[in-house]
Amino acid sequence: MRSVILAVTALILFLPSGGRAQATRKTSDTSRRFYSAAQAKRGKEQYAQDCAQCHGANLKGIGTAPALLGDNFMRDYYSVNDLFIKASVTMPGDNVHGLPTDTYLNIIAYLLQANGLPAGTENLKGDVTAMKRMALMEKKSAKPAAGAADGFYTEEQAERGKGYFRGACSMCHVADPGQPDNRDVIAPPSRGFVAGPVHIQINLASRESFGRWRNVGSLFNKIRTSMPLNDGGALSTEEYVNIAAYLLHQNGYPAGKDELKPDAETLMGLTIPEKGFTTLFNGKDFTGWGFLRARNDIQSREGNDSVLRHADRLYVSHRHEVSELYFAAGVSLSRVPGHEEQRSILRQQRLLDFHEGASSLP
Ligand code: HEC
Ligand code: HEC
Repeated sequence: MRSVILAVTALILFLPSGGRAQATRKTSDTSRRFYSAAQAKRGKEQYAQDCAQCHGANLKGIGTAPALLGDNFMRDYYSVNDLFIKASVTMPGDNVHGLPTDTYLNIIAYLLQANGLPAGTENLKGDVTAMKRMALMEKKSAKPAAGAADGFYTEEQAERGKGYFRGACSMCHVADPGQPDNRDVIAPPSRGFVAGPVHIQINLASRESFGRWRNVGSLFNKIRTSMPLNDGGALSTEEYVNIAAYLLHQNGYPAGKDELKPDAETLMGLTIPEKGFTTLFNGKDFTGWGFLRARNDIQSREGNDSVLRHADRLYVSHRHEVSELYFAAGVSLSRVPGHEEQRSILRQQRLLDFHEGASSLP
């Protein structure tokens, strides 16, 4: 038999409420002139001194130290700030966090120049808010996907998230469904964090880890407020939401035609179905749903008095052929106050209303 998960609370909390606030990021820096030519020149010299031995004088990478040039590299960073954080918090590999801030900024200026961003008149400064606003890649518009399943994100968005994940999270995490279904996996050398005698990474594509998220909002909030561990909240909203899309992808949830948007209310409504279950409600479309509100009259005792109370119940149905399943899933909308244990069995149940395909609850 087909198993079904019901998100009744989500239904109640996430009725369409008119215009939804959309936290869309403004990338106002259309000119994208983030540094000065003089600064990049200084950065080039400092790069030669502090970075070139590993990343190569031509920026093309040597051995395990990757190229700092090209789309593959730039895709890992949404904003100048992310690149700055990666460099200043984890580099140089042999002298981590060992350079003055100005040196890092100059080197970043050089990397931007080498990657084709034009120079301006102002130096790049260590202003986190400003650097977060300096988007490196113009966001491509979402392509409508064929098939248009009810996925919460697009393929292209997950692909962007993959890059950001590599840049900001892969030090301590993998998101690999191919690994054993354990949360903790042994990290390769120079990766991971210390856990007792070993270095581990947490696999965010294991059931043990991912299984805890009830909805996309709880996942999003976890990573947005506490990750990366060394600098929680350091990334832009754009990155967090794309990383969330990537994690959904890695955990086997299909892509759809709309991008996942960083709107807290909507995200909390996107229930992550437990494996083996199917989510029927997509958070917005009530077609095929029926709601049944019933009233229970409940006899209870308070002291020596017998009191008749009313409690509303909500039953939900989805398409007629499976509706019976849902009648078993009735939930109380309001709890009867007081004297739980003395409450007698429900005496009578009356139908008050039945709305098929209603766009809101009665
Ligand atoms: C001792 C060798 C070494 C030195 C010196 C070094 N790096 Fe690295 N760097 C690495 C290695 C290895 C990696 C790949 C592992 C990682 O991402 O942490 C890396 C990764 C990076 C990345 C991430 C690349 C990507 O694909 O996203 C950046 C950015 C970076 N280094 C910048 C710098 C800068 C800037 C300097 C100089 C201030 C520097 N590195 C000096 C070894 C080095
Ligand atoms: C410096 C190491 C480090 C980095 C970088 C890091 N994390 Fe974490 N992360 C941890 C540790 C340690 C935990 C476990 C403790 C906790 O939950 O806070 C964790 C827990 C998590 C969890 C909860 C998983 C679970 O099973 O408990 C998620 C989700 C997560 N991280 C996502 C991210 C994302 C997304 C990024 C990149 C934006 C990131 N982390 C970067 C160290 C890191």
